[in-house]
Amino acid sequence: MGIEITGWGKCLPPTILKNEDFETFLDTSNEWIVSRTGVKERRISHVPMTELATVAAKHALASADKTAEEMDAIIVATCTPEYTIPSSASRVQENIGNTSAASFDINSACTGFVYGLTTAYGLISSNVMNRILLIGAEKVSYFLDWTQRDTAVLFGDAAGAVVIENVDGDSKLHASKLGCDPAQGKALMLKNFGSNMKLNNLSIEEETNFFGLTFDGQEVFKHAVRTMAKLAKEALEEANLTMEDIELCIPHQANARILQATARRCDLPLEKVFINLDKYGNTSAASIPVALTEALEQNKIKQNSKILFLAFGAGLTSAAAIIDWGSRIQSIKKSRATLPACSKTGLELINQA
Ligand code: COA
Repeated sequence: MGIEITGWGKCLPPTILKNEDFETFLDTSNEWIVSRTGVKERRISHVPMTELATVAAKHALASADKTAEEMDAIIVATCTPEYTIPSSASRVQENIGNTSAASFDINSACTGFVYGLTTAYGLISSNVMNRILLIGAEKVSYFLDWTQRDTAVLFGDAAGAVVIENVDGDSKLHASKLGCDPAQGKALMLKNFGSNMKLNNLSIEEETNFFGLTFDGQEVFKHAVRTMAKLAKEALEEANLTMEDIELCIPHQANARILQATARRCDLPLEKVFINLDKYGNTSAASIPVALTEALEQNKIKQNSKILFLAFGAGLTSAAAIIDWGSRIQSIKKSRATLPACSKTGLELINQA
């Protein structure tokens, strides 16, 4: 028995917020944002996060030609849930029409998809389950302080999903290296959200208007490059592979300079690194499944190739995983699932956030 990703899909909210839009209310410039991050624009969602997740999930199910009821588990990787309970996964489960699967969320921030992927392969390889729907979905825009130029320009909203199942053959997860450096946890924090809110003695207005993303960009930058390069090497070693065996690396899309520096550090040719952050910014746990879907749409993934996933995020967490891609690189079916239209501009949407 082998294990493969057999379906994939994405959901990008239609409303675009361009770098130039920030110039109208922040002391920043398109030139600064592009040169420091590579981001040109990002999407702002007019719907709740689980609606993005639902549309991406429907595309992944159609791509694998599976029904929702055939899923044994639904996992949502997110750090921007609508509620603490019920889980985001159970909301998506209801939306897609599954009545009995196991449903749970994973919060390791931007590494959530790779943590979820490792969990899903583990559950399937140990025969606990046969088919899992894994979704990375985020509505980061809701939590941003739009007066802070160092964080506001970096993020965007999106969802991506995959179906993972057992198949004939010997495709597998070759290696997965997951880690977390808790001593660095304060380098990237969303305070004032959760059961500590009252302890912080905030007024109701402060609680609802200010979640307080605290952020040490340079520390996270250094940590990201160091750990992704280290875990990539360790994963290759564990899998008994070299970088030459890797067809494509799909990294978490946070900053083009982070990806360039990581690639240099672990002898990964930049041509093998898939980058789409210019269009979407950092969409946290959604960034890898969205990038994976676009890599397939652009014929960047070959049959039976080896794919390297790399990620880092709040925690500070880090992740590297190597999988075999299967023999199918086209979706079996297409879904018509889409979001409702939005008549507002990006600036109008963030004014409401
Ligand atoms: N526009 C203009 N200037 C800005 C700015 C903006 N949007 N944001 C910050 N600046 C200023 C800073 O205030 C600083 O000014 P100063 O030198 O007068 O103090 C200057 O630009 C340089 O800031 P610096 O922090 O040195 O820039 P950088 O090259 O490290 O890039 C980040 C900043 C945030 C883009 C980069 O550190 C980064 O990508 N970090 C990791 C990203 C991350 O954490 N992602 C989330 C985790 S998944």
